[in-house]
Amino acid sequence: MMQIAAGGYADQGTLCGSLGACASIINLVTMDKDKTHTKLAADLINWYGQQSFPSTKFDAIATYKKQTQTTPNSPLCHVSVSGWMMETGTTYPDKQRKDRCAKVAAEVAYHTVEILNAYADGSYKPIVAKLSESTESCLTCHGESAHDNAKGQMDCLTCHDDHTK
Ligand code: HEC
Ligand code: HEC
Repeated sequence: MMQIAAGGYADQGTLCGSLGACASIINLVTMDKDKTHTKLAADLINWYGQQSFPSTKFDAIATYKKQTQTTPNSPLCHVSVSGWMMETGTTYPDKQRKDRCAKVAAEVAYHTVEILNAYADGSYKPIVAKLSESTESCLTCHGESAHDNAKGQMDCLTCHDDHTK
């Protein structure tokens, strides 16, 4: 069911496929009227943007160890992997790139299990689910409490200029 998530869904570079797959699992096991599944998945997605990927946690079983790390600042496959390829001078078909994305997928799955275990124990607390200051500021006008005309919680400044400055 999730093979299609590779390359940000059908190679389109949209949502990082590991986030899509893990969000589906979260939905499967935690959905309720309080939207627990939405809160847990939002936390996972916000956490993702702030990580230095790939982690070294899986180096023992990886071909390439201690790879250069980049912080995606975005849940999008396109932003995450393109930034890393540019930084490391690699291309999409390279084995190094495959290793990097395998480690990203492993780290996202690992963290999803941590989130779900904590939730099952009743000890879950959102880890990062905090937006950047600039995004918070954009949403004071464009978000739900005001105009509500810009959907999403991604970091606005990765794509837009700040027209209030
Ligand atoms: C003080 C309220 C306010 C804040 C804060 C604000 N906006 Fe806006 N934004 C508006 C309004 C009102 C418009 C419509 C302006 C118009 O009539 O063209 C607008 C228009 C836009 C547009 C479409 C027109 C354009 O300029 O391209 C974009 C994109 C946008 N805002 C992004 C952002 C981003 C990104 C941030 C945060 C960095 C942000 N806005 C912060 C009020 C705000
Ligand atoms: C991944 C890139 C990306 C991110 C992140 C992003 N936007 Fe956009 N946004 C776009 C694109 C592309 C458009 C459509 C192109 C356009 O009309 O400027 C758009 C359109 C808009 C528009 C309508 C502009 C118009 O003139 O039609 C607003 C308002 C806006 N975004 C606000 C935001 C806010 C606020 C955030 C942060 C919560 C945000 N965007 C995050 C890429 C992004």
